[in-house]
Amino acid sequence: MQSTMDLGNASQIASQIIEPIDLTTLESSEMELNAPVLRIIGKAKLSGHVPISGAKNSILALMAGSLLSSEGCRIRNVPNLADVQRMSDILETLGVKISRNGEVLDLDTSNLTTNSAPYELVSKMRASFFAVGSLLARLGSAKIPLPGGCAIGARPVELHVRGLQSLGAFVQIDHGIVHAHAMSPNGRLQGAKIYLDYPSVGATETLMMAATLADGQTMIENAALEPEVIDLADLCMAMGAKIRGAGTSTIIIDGVEKLHFADFTAIPDRVEAATFMVAAAITRSTLSMSPVIPAHLTAAISKLQDIGVTVRQDSDNMITVIGGDNYRAVDIETLPYPGFPTDMQAQFMALLTICDGNGVVTETVFENRLQHVAELNRMGANIRLKNNVAVVTGVPQLSGAPVMATDLRASAALVIAGLAADGETTVMGLHHLDRGYDRIEEKLRNVGAKLYRTTEAIPV
Ligand code: EPZ
Repeated sequence: MQSTMDLGNASQIASQIIEPIDLTTLESSEMELNAPVLRIIGKAKLSGHVPISGAKNSILALMAGSLLSSEGCRIRNVPNLADVQRMSDILETLGVKISRNGEVLDLDTSNLTTNSAPYELVSKMRASFFAVGSLLARLGSAKIPLPGGCAIGARPVELHVRGLQSLGAFVQIDHGIVHAHAMSPNGRLQGAKIYLDYPSVGATETLMMAATLADGQTMIENAALEPEVIDLADLCMAMGAKIRGAGTSTIIIDGVEKLHFADFTAIPDRVEAATFMVAAAITRSTLSMSPVIPAHLTAAISKLQDIGVTVRQDSDNMITVIGGDNYRAVDIETLPYPGFPTDMQAQFMALLTICDGNGVVTETVFENRLQHVAELNRMGANIRLKNNVAVVTGVPQLSGAPVMATDLRASAALVIAGLAADGETTVMGLHHLDRGYDRIEEKLRNVGAKLYRTTEAIPV
């Protein structure tokens, strides 16, 4: 493979474009040697419309929720993501038959063959742990490995475990496996009052699913308010569950005996939308995007407007972002919804690197979600980091560089920074990006970006 690419010749580059690889089949050793990279030509000018895919963080929970009924369910608006593939793999090991037709996923849950999910799959995708709630409710027992930490933090699950114990489950963690079973003679969980020490999205989802089939009423207090929690509640209610208060800090679930089939469409991905909003802002371009739910983007819209970006709502499901010439720095503190989303922090930090003044970014949700600081500084940003606080001092221009993605949203931030930088940026570690973005380079190329996924030997 030639060591440098003639980026001036798009047709020559095009011949080297490869389709996103199916990451679930690559061995880790291959990943180092032949890992694809994203080569981005900077100073991009974007224009046009970006289609927004279904919400990854809803769909993973919806897939876990499908286990609650033996009649299965159909989930629409499902993008092609590595995390969706991993969740499918896990559900299939449980006996679920899954067929995909475009963005429609059909899950036949009529014949679960085991209550145990394999470690090698669960450890790769934390959201699979949420299935412990629906599996326990459906079968009366579940064996799910502790998901373990990831790049952004330890990711403990004690809120999930304590909540399940409140619902009458015996839960034991043995050799890294969570063994849980309903203690009541009829194998059903018992409704209970649960208080979450922290409004954990996953714990709220796990416990809400478990409670749908419990005997009696469950109240979850200090519940997470994220839109993805509401979407999961909507699916469960479409399946026949009785849930009130999803989207507020108190959710009440009246258990029922059985749930039925549902045909359900997932909400659009607010984090993907925010990523493209920042891409428009940082390249001082104009981009429209849909479908979106503007109410899910309030924090992102408000911050962009404070910075000096124009955001126009064109209809109930389309917005247009109009970049400007002068941006002023703002402070950002990540908080549970409706506070500023932690999943948008890295992307906004990339934008802050070229805003006038100092922006203080405080990450309060995860303990290690500032690894993109080092990579942005390699692109000429001026960011000082102390514990969970980053002070971003604006610079006139970023400069392209080879950078390594460390986690999903950091990879998106580096792509955005590369679009604006002077010169070429090579983003490595694309397996992070492919977890949560469906065809991001295609969507960006369609609005004028010049970026190509290529394979080249990377010095290991
Ligand atoms: C969900 O993760 C999302 N993932 C994350 O998106 C998102 O960043 C996060 O919610 C916060 O909004 C999915 O929905 C699949 P939490 P989750 O439980 O449920 C601590 C992305 O980039 N905690 O709300 O795991 C935890 O360690 C991903 O798309 C406990 O201490 O998040 C963290 O510090 C990343 N004990 C904080 O709470 C527990 O039992 C928030 O975690 C559970 C959580």
